[in-house]
Amino acid sequence: MDLLLVEKSLIAVFVAVVLATVVSKLRGKKLKLPPGPIPIPIFGNWLQVGDDLNHRKLVDYAKKFGDLFLFKMGQRNIVVVSSPDLTKEVLHTQGVEFGSRHRNMVYDIFTGKGQDMVFTVYGEHWRKMRRIMTVPFFTNKVVQQNHEGWEFEAASVVEDVKKNPDAATKGIVVRKRLQLMVYNNMFGIMFGKRFESEDDPLFLRLKFLNGERGRLTQSFEYNYGDFIPILRPFLRGYLKICQDVKDRRFALFKKYFVDDRKQVATAKPTGGGGLKCAIDHILEAQNKGEINDDNVLYIVENINVAAIETTLTSMEWGIAELVNHPEIQSKLRNEIDTVLGPGVHVTEPALHKLPYLQAVIKETIRRRMAVPLLVPHMNLKDAKLAGYDIPAESRILINAWWLANNPDSWNSPEEFRPERFLEEEAHVEANGNDFRYVPFGVGRRSCPGIILALPILGITIGRLVQNFELLPPPGQSKIDTSEKSGQFSLQILNQSTIVMKPRAF
Ligand code: HEM
Repeated sequence: MDLLLVEKSLIAVFVAVVLATVVSKLRGKKLKLPPGPIPIPIFGNWLQVGDDLNHRKLVDYAKKFGDLFLFKMGQRNIVVVSSPDLTKEVLHTQGVEFGSRHRNMVYDIFTGKGQDMVFTVYGEHWRKMRRIMTVPFFTNKVVQQNHEGWEFEAASVVEDVKKNPDAATKGIVVRKRLQLMVYNNMFGIMFGKRFESEDDPLFLRLKFLNGERGRLTQSFEYNYGDFIPILRPFLRGYLKICQDVKDRRFALFKKYFVDDRKQVATAKPTGGGGLKCAIDHILEAQNKGEINDDNVLYIVENINVAAIETTLTSMEWGIAELVNHPEIQSKLRNEIDTVLGPGVHVTEPALHKLPYLQAVIKETIRRRMAVPLLVPHMNLKDAKLAGYDIPAESRILINAWWLANNPDSWNSPEEFRPERFLEEEAHVEANGNDFRYVPFGVGRRSCPGIILALPILGITIGRLVQNFELLPPPGQSKIDTSEKSGQFSLQILNQSTIVMKPRAF
């Protein structure tokens, strides 16, 4: 009797396996997947392609497989889009279908599986978080309330550099001082807080933990475990470190920033004088029960990540390009001197009078896009693109860098030439009015921080060029602009030492 039962069970399992195989084969046959290298079982294309999926490598594959191709990386489908038309389809026409975010295992840890805004799927939670964050962070009113603070911070950088005897002789890594400035800009908006110096212990801890978060998430070294489930046990140590950094970071955000601000708010109820800062609005939403304690911390996390390194990296690239193109630097300085008058400070309200400065910033972001593949998009359900089937939960990478650097659609794109944005590309704006140029994305998931990033870049680069001659260190004719790519970031490999000679007015 027992034997009969075992026999029957075995037959049932056998039939189920055969059926599942047949069904999956039939379903597999029906799918018309985008072109790509031929995958092998378990590993897919991972053995051919490897872990590093940077924007330049993806250009090489696009040349081979076309504007839409698919990598099967173990269990993950990675779809790469490399043309303006398909970008429009993904970000605009099918913006809802492709409006979710893909998170790998490391991002799952840092975002609590999408309890934040940047990495959550498209839906109710995202809509609520984006709405709650808009008034405190992403409106013109925020710019009007904060630009004098940004101008003050840029002026402090100028003063500090002038005081540093190395600046005019052997050169300094000005990035370090600018990093403090960008933290002050963002923590000013968020908490009304300012760090006095690069040695401020709280700033050092924050910078360290944010740096670790950046390093751990942007590294390609963990891809193998994310792609290939049987290799996951090898990733346990890495994920444990991620969890530890996440916990320490959140404890810091809570203790020194959020709880601190709650105390200020209790001591001085709203309306009792003083400007409301962003976190006050966020805490109001929490008090109304719209979001919970954790969501508040995830908002702080998102601003720390999305706002600071992107803006700082763009500044760093802009300065590097200006050092390596002295004629462009002089032309920019002349524009500022002529339009504003020598020694009259660059301010946010003056930026619209400085078209060459704006062109320099656009060109920097075109050539050295801080987020060259955008933040990975995802389709929650099976979808269609250009007649191909895109399986549900594919990671969609838009190669925005290539769209803006493809010689088929730009004149000599490898040249750093801001004039293009005053001449043949004069109509092109950074907000994505042309699908060849989408450094901040387009549509539902586009960067809401553009409204802050552009004036901060304009004020900072404008003031530096106005006050200093920016040169390579002695003995060098150019500075090194080798790139360092991450999962979706593009940084300068070696932080540049720059000679900054003060100008006399
Ligand atoms: C030069 C500086 C910056 C660059 C190049 C940049 C670029 C981007 C890009 C490419 C995206 C993804 C778009 C997409 O996937 O379609 C994005 C998203 C985002 N950015 Fe920025 N960003 C910058 C500065 C900022 C600032 C200053 C803030 C906040 C103060 C910010 C907040 C965000 C947020 C919250 C998202 C997620 C939007 C969503 O998923 O709905 N960014 N950014």
